[in-house]
Order: sequence, then C-alpha cells, then structure tokens
Amino acid sequence: MKSFCFVVSIILIWSLRSIKCSIPGPAVKASKGEVWPKPQQQNVSDKYFVFRPRNFEFEIAKGSSNCGFIQNALNRYFKILQENQVILDKQTKHRGIYKYKKSWVQDDDYQGYIDCLTVNLTGGCDNNLYPDIDMDEKYKLWVTPDRTELQATSIWGILRGLETFSQLVYLGDDGLTLRINATVIKDYPRYKHRGLLIDTSRHFIPMDKIYLTLDALAYNKMNVLHWHIVDDQSFPYFSEKFPELSEQGAYNKYTKVYMPEDIENVIEYARIRGIRVLPEFDTPGHTSSWGLSHPEILTPCEVYNTYGPMDPSKNATFELLQEFFGEVRQVFKDDFVHLGGDEVDFICWQADNNISNFMKKQNLTTYKDLESFYIQKVVNMVENLQFKSIVWEEVFSNGVKLPNETLVHVWKGGWTSTMKSVTEAGKFGLLSACWYLDDIGAEWNQYYMCDPTDFDGTQEQQELVLGGEACMWGEMVNEYNIISRVWPRASATAEKLWSAKADGYDLDEPSRRIEEHACRLNRRGIVAQPPNGPGYCD
Ligand SMILES: *[C@@H]1O[C@H](CO)[C@@H](O)[C@H](O)[C@H]1NC(C)=O
Ligand SMILES: *[C@@H]1O[C@H](CO)[C@@H](O)[C@H](O)[C@H]1NC(C)=O
Ligand SMILES: *[C@@H]1O[C@H](CO)[C@@H](O)[C@H](O)[C@H]1NC(C)=O
Ligand SMILES: *[C@@H]1O[C@H](CO)[C@@H](O)[C@H](O)[C@H]1NC(C)=O
Ligand SMILES: *[C@@H]1O[C@H](CO)[C@@H](O)[C@H](O)[C@H]1NC(C)=O
Ligand SMILES: *[C@@H]1O[C@H](CO)[C@@H](O)[C@H](O)[C@H]1NC(C)=O
Ligand SMILES: *[C@@H]1O[C@H](CO)[C@@H](O)[C@H](O)[C@H]1NC(C)=O
Repeated sequence: MKSFCFVVSIILIWSLRSIKCSIPGPAVKASKGEVWPKPQQQNVSDKYFVFRPRNFEFEIAKGSSNCGFIQNALNRYFKILQENQVILDKQTKHRGIYKYKKSWVQDDDYQGYIDCLTVNLTGGCDNNLYPDIDMDEKYKLWVTPDRTELQATSIWGILRGLETFSQLVYLGDDGLTLRINATVIKDYPRYKHRGLLIDTSRHFIPMDKIYLTLDALAYNKMNVLHWHIVDDQSFPYFSEKFPELSEQGAYNKYTKVYMPEDIENVIEYARIRGIRVLPEFDTPGHTSSWGLSHPEILTPCEVYNTYGPMDPSKNATFELLQEFFGEVRQVFKDDFVHLGGDEVDFICWQADNNISNFMKKQNLTTYKDLESFYIQKVVNMVENLQFKSIVWEEVFSNGVKLPNETLVHVWKGGWTSTMKSVTEAGKFGLLSACWYLDDIGAEWNQYYMCDPTDFDGTQEQQELVLGGEACMWGEMVNEYNIISRVWPRASATAEKLWSAKADGYDLDEPSRRIEEHACRLNRRGIVAQPPNGPGYCD
C-alpha cells in the first residue's frame, strides 16, 4: 500500500509539474483597481484619473453630517491611501537604478488628477452608534470628471464606500502613476449577516491578532466577528462575577485570558469598523472547562471518567447561568448571543440516576426532550435579558421549540435539506456548512462554489436566510497561522454574502480579482496566502 501511494504521488507531482511549470508567468494575472467583494452595480470606463497620495484629501460635503466617527474613518483610510506612495516610490527608485524613463506621458484616456473625494453623509452621525443586523450599508460612489463623491445615508455606508474607494487605486502599466478609472458604483450587501467565527478556546488568540482579523473583516466588508470564546479545552473569558472560571479554566490565568478591558477594546475596535461582536457561550455540551471551578453544574460521568454536559436537573446550573448571562449582557453590546447547543453527548445523561428521576418528574421521555427542556430555559433566560439568540442546527433538528427571532446556524453536511426544513418551519437561517476553513485542502474557489440559495425552497424561504459565516475552528490554529489560514479563503465567503448572485460559477473573473485582493491585503499587513498558485505582487 505504501509503495502504491508513493508511486501515485510521484505521478501526481510529475503531472502537476508538467502542467504548471511549462507555462511562464503567474498562474492568474491580477486585476488592477477592481473591488472585492464585487459591487452590486458598477460602470467603469477606460478613462482614468491620476491619484497623487501627497495631494489627496477628503472633504466633507456642505450639508453633510459629520462627527468623530466619520473623522476617525477618514483618518484610517487616509493612511491606507497614503501607503500607495510607498509602492510608487519603490518603482521610481528602481527606475533610477535602471535608467528607464522617469516621467509619464498623458494619453487620450487621461482625465486629470483626483485630489479630493467629497464625503456626503445624508443621515445622522452618532458617535456611539453600534452596528446591528439591520444596519444600512448601502452607498453610492462617483468618480467622474464632474463629480467625485461618496454618498450614503448612514455611517455604515460611508465605511463600506471608503473601503471601495481605497480599492480602486492601482499602479498604471507605466509604473509611474497611481490611477483610478472613471466609475460609478451603486452598492449594497446581498445578506445582512456576514461573519467569521474564531475559536479562542482551543488556542488562545492574542489581542493583536484579533485586531488584525477585524481589519481584514473590514477590508472584506464583513460585519460580524463570531467569537467562540470558551469551550471544553479552556476558558479564557474573565468573568467579574465568577473569576474562578478563568482562574481554573484558562490555559494560563494571567496571560491566556481576555480581561473586561480587552473585550471592551475588541468591541470598540470592531464597532468603528462597522463590525458586530457576537459572543458565543456554548452549552450544555462543550463545557468541560467550566467544570474545573464549577463541577456542580456538570453531569458526573463515570463512562468517560470525567464530567459530561451541564446538568439540567439541578437548579444550581440555571442559577449560575442566570448570573453569568446577566453579566454577558452588560459586557457585550450586540443584540444577539450565540448559545451553541451543538454536539450534546447523551451518554452521560443516560448514565445518571438523578437525571433519570428528574426526567420522570418532568414527564420528559427522551434525551432530546431533556435537551429541549434545557435549551428552552436558557433561551428564555437570555430573552429576559433582552438578548436574541442564535443556536447551532442540532437544537432545531432535535425539535426544541424556539422563539421566532432565534437564528438557526446550519453547519453540518447535507445542509441543503437542513436549510429547507429550517426555513419551512419559518425560522431564520445562517449558513456555515460549506465555509469551514478547517478543511485545509480547500482553497477559496471551493468556498466560492457554494451559494446560500443552493437549497430547494420558495422565495419566502430563501429570504429567511440572513447570511452566514466562515468558520475557523481553533484546534490546529494559533496566533502564528490564523491570519494566513483564514485569508484570503474567507474572502470567498465575504463575496458570496455581499455581491449579487453570480450567473453560474465562472471562476476566471473572480480569480483575477482575488489575486489582486490578496496582494492588497498583504500590503495592508494581513499575511494572506497566495490564492491561485504561482504569481507575484507589485
Ligand atoms: C481602466 O482603464 C484602462 C485604460 O486606461 C483599462 O485598460 C482597464 O481595463 C480599466 N480597468 C477597468 C477595471 O475597467
Ligand atoms: C449630498 O447629498 C444630498 C442628497 O442626495 C444632495 O442633495 C447634495 O447635493 C449632496 N452634496 C454634495 C456636495 O454633493
Ligand atoms: C450603468 O450604466 C447603465 C447604462 O447606461 C445605467 O442604466 C446604470 O444605471 C449605470 N449604473 C450605475 C451604477 O451608474
Ligand atoms: C429548584 O427550583 C424549583 C423551582 O424554582 C423549586 O421548586 C425547587 O424546590 C428547587 N429545588 C432545589 C433543590 O432548590
Ligand atoms: C444524586 O443526588 C444526590 C443528592 O443530591 C447526590 O448525593 C448524589 O451524589 C447524586 N448522584 C449523582 C450520580 O450525581
Ligand atoms: C406530568 O404529568 C402528570 C400527569 O399527566 C401531571 O400531573 C404533572 O403535572 C406533570 N408534571 C410536569 C412537570 O409537567
Ligand atoms: C412567528 O412565526 C409565525 C410563523 O411563521 C408567524 O405567523 C408569526 O407572525 C411570527 N411572529 C412574529 C412576532 O414575528
């Protein structure tokens, strides 16, 4: 068997080499000045303006709203735009060495300089606005001879439009000018919820990498950081009410914890980029780390010689959770909390006499009923705390009665039939099943081949899908590889959730754009891996 595999891999390597290496040049030629995710509507011409970073400035339109929120965003994008000067300077320096032509020639397409973008916020500007699922992200952008304006009714639209504007700049073929083609863009997202899940339990992810992740989310117009903060392996969330949870449950109680000010900083860093921070406290399974300080709330489990899921037969369980989620409500600002509910192992419940007695008393006949009993209590608990909830698909599949506004997060194989049942039941759905970044064999193009409408459902059912998330579970991911493993693969998800549904699955056009986008991410300090094979960045 071994030698067979060896022969097969030799053949594979040989054939890959013979195909790829015989063609000189990059596998995919990057686009120039094209936007990722693709705008809903864009007209571009061959006419171009020359962009001079040193001369450029933003201007607030007369009559536009203005506040610190806008100024902060303009400062960030001003810096990003200035960094283009570095590219230009490098080019010019090398030209000096090689004695190439040093000045550029205006051709027929040249329309003049673009030294200003007018920013026009027609709605209000509130410095403390927190993004929500109904946030208005639409914007219009004109770069034409008589109008260079970004217009939006909300601050969120201005943020998305600034991102787009920053992506229009490219290095002209002459290597001497930065350019923006004349264009008119009308843009808005296809789905409301466009997220990335990170898992800080399997490996602790330090703050700087979370900030970088938020930067990258903004560069991809994603609007949710789903923070799967604790799990079986470790409990890095520092709770003011229950400090013992992280004292005993974190990998290191001093260095591998998120203190309240860390969390506040993450939320603020995300907020000003138009990103919601959605916390997940997964129960009743995936809770071993809670048991290091609070074994009384878990089910003792001789079968595994450890503790099983939370014990729904004990008041102590719900009393602790009530206090705990009360604190979570104060700490996180989002309207939603993710309650998990996945992969509950019934074996430990089955082996426990007290639980059997409890079930008899409560008239619960199956373990699914017991799970329902538990989840319903927790859902009601967080509802009373003014949280809406999101649950993994098992909660729905096991027949738990859920409030209308609870979102069902579909993650397992065979997702098309699950999404069909979820929406048939009138429930909102979120899709992650085809966007598991853990699958290291999958490149962006595989994720790109999945569309949230790929299930059999009526128009009304399709509309119940509110979006989805790329998931980066943490077993094999730590601070050193999280950024390069996620990007630009999650960019595929970002585009499927923002851009208009593509006719068919042509990969040529997005391949060129993602090639450019990955280079753009690299320039901005995101160590995205190459998306398409051999190539280079300017
Ligand atoms: C921008 O204009 C140039 C010619 O000036 C053209 O070659 C290029 O295709 C245009 N880019 C886009 C995105 O249309
Ligand atoms: C800003 O937008 C409003 C509303 O569309 C428009 O009436 C106004 O002319 C715009 N201002 C500028 C300076 O473009
Ligand atoms: C693009 O051009 C078409 C045809 O002129 C026009 O109908 C459409 O509104 C334009 N789109 C944008 C975003 O300007
Ligand atoms: C648990 O709570 C229920 C309802 O509040 C109450 O009736 C019961 O006595 C409590 N049990 C214990 C052991 O505290
Ligand atoms: C069942 O409950 C009793 C009384 O609370 C307790 O002493 C006993 O340890 C429990 N048994 C198990 C298996 O948890
Ligand atoms: C269980 O069923 C019995 C008989 O129908 C009923 O009297 C009792 O109130 C039920 N208990 C609960 C907790 O629903
Ligand atoms: C809850 O869902 C049902 C069934 O889809 C629907 O009839 C009802 O209006 C919904 N209620 C709310 C408050 O949205």
